[in-house]
Amino acid sequence: MSIEGSGGRHVIVTGASSGIGEATARLLVANGCRVTLAARRTDKLEALAAEINPSGKRVTIAPTDVNKPGDLERLVARANAIFGRIDAVVNNAGVDNGAKHWWTLPPEKSVLTLQTNLIAVVELTRLVLPQMLEHKAGNIINIGSVAGHIGTSSLYSASKFGLRGFSLSLRRELAGTGVHVSLVSPGFIRTPLTDKGRPLPMPGPEIVARAVQQLLEHPRAETVVPGWYRFLIFLENAFPFIGDRVVAQIRASKVGEKL
Ligand SMILES: NC(=O)c1ccc[n+]([C@@H]2O[C@H](COP(=O)([O-])OP(=O)(O)OC[C@H]3O[C@@H](n4cnc5c(N)ncnc54)[C@H](OP(=O)(O)O)[C@@H]3O)[C@@H](O)[C@H]2O)c1
Repeated sequence: MSIEGSGGRHVIVTGASSGIGEATARLLVANGCRVTLAARRTDKLEALAAEINPSGKRVTIAPTDVNKPGDLERLVARANAIFGRIDAVVNNAGVDNGAKHWWTLPPEKSVLTLQTNLIAVVELTRLVLPQMLEHKAGNIINIGSVAGHIGTSSLYSASKFGLRGFSLSLRRELAGTGVHVSLVSPGFIRTPLTDKGRPLPMPGPEIVARAVQQLLEHPRAETVVPGWYRFLIFLENAFPFIGDRVVAQIRASKVGEKL
C-alpha cells in the first residue's frame, strides 16, 4: 500500500542489512523516499541498494557500527552530503546478546545489548535533532519491542523498557517543535533474530515496515504490531501473575527469549 506524502523524504534506517530494517528500507524506497542504509555488513547493504534502487539516485549506503561514535558522525555527515536535510531516522539496529544467564558473559558482551539498543539510539538522536529542530520538522521512529512492556529477558527488556521511556519522554519534551518521536513495539517477527527453530507462527518484517511508514505520515506515540499483542500488554499490567506463568512456559519450551 502506498501512503501518499512520504515521497521525497530522506530517511536514515539503521540495521538495514537484515530483517525489519531491510523490509523498512524496501517499503520506504518503493514509496518514493530517499534512504540512507546503515549497518556493519557492507556487502548486504550494497546488495540491497543495488536491488531496490539500481540507479543509485534514491539510496546510499553508510557502513556503520552504531556503537562507534565516529561511525555515527560519519553516517550523519554522509547522509547530509548525499541527500541533504535528514527528514527522519528509523532507529532499528538491535541485538540480544544476553538471553539466558547473562551474568556468566563477560561484562562487555552484556553491556552490548544496552549499548546497541538504547545508548546508540540516544547518540544518533543527539546528532540529528539540531537540524530537525532548526527546520521545525522531523520524525524519529524507534523500534522497541513488546519486551519493553513485558519483562522477558533481563538485558533485552532493560534496553527496550529504556528505549520506550526515552521515546515517550522525548516526544513530550519536543511537543510543539515540529519534531515527532514515535515507537514501534513489535511482538515476535520472523527475522534472523528469531530464526532459531521456534515453532511459533510469526508475521514477516513487512508488518513493522508498514507501521513505520504509517508513523511517518501520521505520527503517534506508539504502535504495537501485530495489534493483538496489546491484549497481552493489558494482561501484564492488570494481572502480572499471568505473565509470570506465560513467560515461564515460553522459556521452558525454549520458544522465545527475545519477544
Ligand atoms: N524479530 C523480532 O521478533 C523483534 C521483535 C521485537 C523487536 N525487534 C527489534 O527489531 C530490530 C531489528 O531486529 P530484526 O528482528 O530485524 O533482527 P536482525 O534481522 O538480526 O537485524 C538486526 C540489524 O541490526 C544491525 N545491527 C546490529 N548491531 C549493530 C551495530 N552495532 N551497528 C549497526 N548495526 C547493527 C544488523 O546489521 P549488521 O549486523 O550488518 O551490523 C541488522 O541489520 C531490533 O531492534 C530488535 O530488537 C525484533
